[in-house]
Order: sequence, then structure tokens, then C-alpha cells
Amino acid sequence: MNHTKKVVALLTGCVFLLLLAAWAPGKKSDKASSKSAADASAAVSANDQQINNNMQAMFNQGRQIFRYDTFGDEAFWGGALHLHQAIAGENLGGVGPGVSPKTALSVGLKVDADALPASLVEQIKAGKVNLDDPATTLALLKLNSVVGVTGFFDKQGKLQGMGIQCALCHSTVDDSFAPGIGHRLDGWPNRDLNVGAIVSLAPNLQPVADLLGVDVPTVKKVLGSWGPGKYDAELDQDGKALRPDGKSAATLLPPAFGLAGVNDATYTGWGSVTYWNAYVANTQMHGKGAFSEPRLTTQQFPIVARSHYNQVRNSDDQITSKLGALQFYQLGIPAPKAPEGSYNKAQAERGKALFSGKANCASCHVPDLYTEPGSSLHTPEEIGIDDFHSSRSPTKKYRTTPLRGLWSHQKGGFYHDGRFQTLNEVVVHYNDHFKLQLTDQEQKDLVEFLKSL
Ligand code: HEC
Ligand code: HEC
Repeated sequence: MNHTKKVVALLTGCVFLLLLAAWAPGKKSDKASSKSAADASAAVSANDQQINNNMQAMFNQGRQIFRYDTFGDEAFWGGALHLHQAIAGENLGGVGPGVSPKTALSVGLKVDADALPASLVEQIKAGKVNLDDPATTLALLKLNSVVGVTGFFDKQGKLQGMGIQCALCHSTVDDSFAPGIGHRLDGWPNRDLNVGAIVSLAPNLQPVADLLGVDVPTVKKVLGSWGPGKYDAELDQDGKALRPDGKSAATLLPPAFGLAGVNDATYTGWGSVTYWNAYVANTQMHGKGAFSEPRLTTQQFPIVARSHYNQVRNSDDQITSKLGALQFYQLGIPAPKAPEGSYNKAQAERGKALFSGKANCASCHVPDLYTEPGSSLHTPEEIGIDDFHSSRSPTKKYRTTPLRGLWSHQKGGFYHDGRFQTLNEVVVHYNDHFKLQLTDQEQKDLVEFLKSL
């Protein structure tokens, strides 16, 4: 009892002293706490600064990689296929007629006007540059101005190799100087680019034929079936060159913009953006890196028995260390805003209401991502199309396409294979498939909204 009282008294005393201590040096303690808050904010800001610096450095590095890094793939495009020899032509140490700038532009290659010195720009303007001469193409390559293609030259200035970059397929130019020549537009799919025609020029397609287990004429036939704006990123896994209806199995080059917040990358949701970047750099561009994918079973992807793309390991890895910055840059590329006057505002406003209302588009294309946060995969039946392309993916499904920036890639059509030529055709398909009973006017309004995204 006595003991308890003592303890209580002692505790009361302690509490009192504590209160006194807290109160007595009131102002001093305020000062102290504001000083420590300042310390904390200084510390946070140094830390924040470090984050900001890192962000900027990674972004710049990512842009550099996206535009100019070949990941060592020149060992394939130049070294194995000798594509550079076809570009240079016989007169300049290569083979065949060579590729003139006119030919290069006609197969959709783009020229970065910002890489051209002012004197050359003047000469081009004055019509003093021979655009029919492969030597001019080599000069453009030396200036590093051909978007997505790097030429490697020896000391004598002879083209001795070449490699490709992400920008080849996922950048274009704004044509501000001339058609095909202008400022870079990173992330925009190059729907003029005829990848098949370009690869077909290679003097040695035997390595591709060997990989696919066919002969060279067959390879050429397949490459010729793609056409502008298309590529087949699964051909060298499953060897399926044609759809059952005999048309090409290639897909449209998709944008690489507007992907921040998007979980599933590719038309069939193979994986995340960085997953796919590693897939492409290793298995499509033939860069030197590492890639693991147990879903590439020889049952679904027979070519893997030869390529071993399910487990790629290069001792000279030039990809893995770049994946972080590469992804960061891509996520930083916004979808381009629809130009003023390119759509009818009043109609788009009504279309917006329909999109989330009667037409029920927003049930899958959730604003503002316009795909589903989380899993965005759907069976072919759900969206009313065939399963050919979905069956070429481990997911066996189609991914809800993020719709921002649709206006900028209308060339080539819509859906993975461009089966719908116009947005109007897409809406007609949905109206039919989901029995939406949209009036003609409502369908037009919906199209205007899609053009505004
Ligand atoms: C030869 C053309 C080509 C090159 C080069 C290329 N891609 Fe692609 N890319 C494609 C095609 C075609 C697809 C669509 C594949 C599919 O869905 O089956 C695609 C898909 C993508 C996607 C998914 C887009 C989406 O909507 O989810 C990203 C991201 C991407 N590529 C990034 C890159 C990066 C980064 C590089 C360089 C490491 C690169 N690509 C190189 C043709 C190319
Ligand atoms: C059940 C989910 C679902 C619904 C509902 C849906 N979509 Fe889609 N949408 C998809 C999928 C999946 C794709 C990819 C199809 C492909 O690439 O083959 C797609 C593709 C598209 C495309 C093509 C984008 C491109 O770049 O090629 C447009 C445009 C589009 N949808 C608009 C709409 C509109 C408008 C509606 C409402 C009338 C709608 N969607 C309703 C899932 C859906």
C-alpha cells in the first residue's frame, strides 16, 4: 500500500516535471523544433534533388538508347545479313545498285533534319544534292541522321556494317523540311516503314532462312507480304507467316507513347513494357543481351528449339543495363494531343457521353488510361474477332488498346492487323457485335470523340 502510494507520487512528480519541462523553455523548444523541421526539409530536398538528378539523367540516357543504341545488333544486320552492302552498292564497295535517298524515303525511312548541318540543308533546298546517289545515303548515315539506322564506317569512310534501333519502327518525323525529313517524333509508329522490303534487300538472308527452317525465296515471299507499317514480332518464334485466310500474319507497328500507367504491353499482352523491350532487343533486333521466358515452349513456339530464345545469355551483354533508362524514357513520352480543328468539338462532347454510357466502351477502355488498370486481356470472342493472333501469344488473349493519340496513327487502319480501315469501321463493328443500336449520328459522334483522344 505504502509502496504503491510512493510509486504513484513518484509518477505524478515525473509527469509534472515532464509537463514543466515541455512548458518552461517554451520558445526555445519551438525554435528547436522549427530548426529540426528545417533540417528535415533540407535533408528531404537534398534527397529530392538526388531523385530529380537521377530522373533527368535516366531520361536523357533512355532517349539516347531509344534513338541510337543498337545493342550490338550490327553483328546481325551487317555482320550476318550484310545489309550495309546493299545500301552502299557496288560502286562504294557493296553489292547491287545501292540505296539512294529517294529509294530509302520510298520504303519509309525517315531523316532527322536536326542532324543535318545548315550548309547541307541549304544545298538540299537549292536542289544541289543528288538524291538518286547512294553516296548521299552514306553521307546521311555518317551524320547519324537516318532515323533508327546506324552505319558503321572504317577509317577510309567505307561502310562496313550497320545496326538498327527502337526508333526505326517507333519514331517518325514531322515532315517539316520535306516529306520524310523533319524533326523526330519519338513514340510515333512509322506507318510508312516497309520493314519487309528493307530486310529483303539483304544480300544474305540464309541465317533467317536457317532459323525459320525454310528456303530464302520463302523468306523473301514472307517479307514481301508485310507491306508498309507492319512487322511480325512472333514469326521467329512460331514460324507462322500467314493467317488461315492467306493474308500476312504481320501486325501494325504500334505507338510507343502514352504507355505510362498501362500494365499490359503488346496487342496480346505478352508482359510489361520493360519485359517487351528485353524481348525485342534480344529476339527481334538481335542485340546482345539476356532474356528469360519459360512460356516460349517448343510446343507453341517450335522455332525456339533452334533459337533458344527462351533462355538468352550473351557474355557481352549490351542490353540489360539499359532497360531501366529505356523504360523510363518511354513512359515519359506522352500521347500527342489532337490538333485544334482536327475533330468536331460538339460531336466529340456527345461522343464522350456515349463512350461511357450507351456504347459502354469505357467498361474496357477506362478513362483516362483508356485500357483497364490491372488486367486488360480479353478473349477473341469477347471482342468479336478471330483467334489467330491471340493464339500466337502465351496469353491467348487480346489486350484492350490504350486509345490516346489514335488520330496520329490512322494510316494502316485499326486493330492489331489493321483489319478496320477507319475509326468508323471500328465503331460499326462494335455496334454490330455488342448490339448497341447506336444511330448513325451517335456512331459519328463516337468517332469524333475517338479522334479527339
Ligand atoms: C522492326 C520494328 C520494331 C522495332 C525495331 C522495335 N519494335 Fe517495338 N513493336 C513492334 C511491333 C510490330 C510491335 C507489336 C508486337 C505485338 O503486339 O505482337 C511492337 C510493340 C512494342 C511495344 C508495345 C506497345 C504497346 O502498345 O503495348 C513497345 C513498348 C515497344 N514495341 C518498344 C520497343 C522498343 C523499346 C524497341 C527497341 C528496343 C522496339 N520496340 C523495337 C515493332 C518494332
Ligand atoms: C470487352 C472489352 C472492350 C470493349 C467493351 C470495347 N473495346 Fe475497344 N478494344 C478492345 C480490345 C481487346 C482491342 C484490341 C483489338 C485488336 O487489336 O485486335 C480494342 C481496340 C479498339 C480500337 C483500336 C485501337 C487501335 O489502335 O487499333 C478502338 C478504336 C476501340 N477499341 C474503340 C472502342 C470503342 C469506341 C468501344 C465502344 C463502342 C470499344 N472499343 C469497346 C476491347 C474492348
